[in-house]
Amino acid sequence: MPDLTTGRYYLRAPAPEDVADITEACQSPGFTRWTRLTPDYTLENAQKFIKRDDPLRPSWMALDAVTGRVGGWVGLFLDAHDDAQAEIGYWVAPWAQRRGVATESGAAVVRYAFAELGIYRLQLVHAAPHAASCAVARRLGFPLEGVLRGAWFKLGDRQDVELHARLATDPDPS
Ligand SMILES: CC(C)(COP(=O)(O)OP(=O)(O)OC[C@H]1O[C@@H](n2cnc3c(N)ncnc32)[C@H](O)[C@@H]1OP(=O)(O)O)[C@@H](O)C(=O)NCCC(=O)NCCS
Repeated sequence: MPDLTTGRYYLRAPAPEDVADITEACQSPGFTRWTRLTPDYTLENAQKFIKRDDPLRPSWMALDAVTGRVGGWVGLFLDAHDDAQAEIGYWVAPWAQRRGVATESGAAVVRYAFAELGIYRLQLVHAAPHAASCAVARRLGFPLEGVLRGAWFKLGDRQDVELHARLATDPDPS
């Protein structure tokens, strides 16, 4: 996948120099609460993550264009049975949150998916009470399509999941 630029962030494939930042971010309470990661995330998990080479799961680290530090991650999960469909996921490190990293770097990946990968339908899901991720979805132009009841199971807790999607023909809010 090519590198992408957004103005404030530079997006490139995960690399060995990202391992410490990825580990620190993925061990933080917000990640344990809202992603599938568990509190026992280790440096070895991050090392394995950066070596992942799956053509169906292209992803980018969003680096601060000034400091070069990892701000977040955006990934696509391409549908193995329908090359016009994919899902998008993201996280932003605690030290970079609430500065538009998810919105700005997410928008760059969404544009790339529609323009270069031929995606027609891009989905986004989040645990229903996760207001911040819902706000990111709306900012990226993904309207809510429905609720998947009881689809989220994490650390003994089962919750609803909200499903958003954007079509290639929908307006680009950015
Ligand atoms: C959710 C997350 C990706 C947001 O990233 P971010 O870069 O801080 O988000 P942005 O700065 O682009 O903000 C986008 C919108 O979310 C809102 N938002 C961000 N963090 C918020 C929070 N903690 N509470 C409420 N709203 C929040 C912003 O106000 C903004 O909405 P607005 O445009 O209506 O003002 C980030 O908090 C995160 O990665 N959390 C931990 C991992 C995670 O939840 N991953 C996603 C799993 S679905």
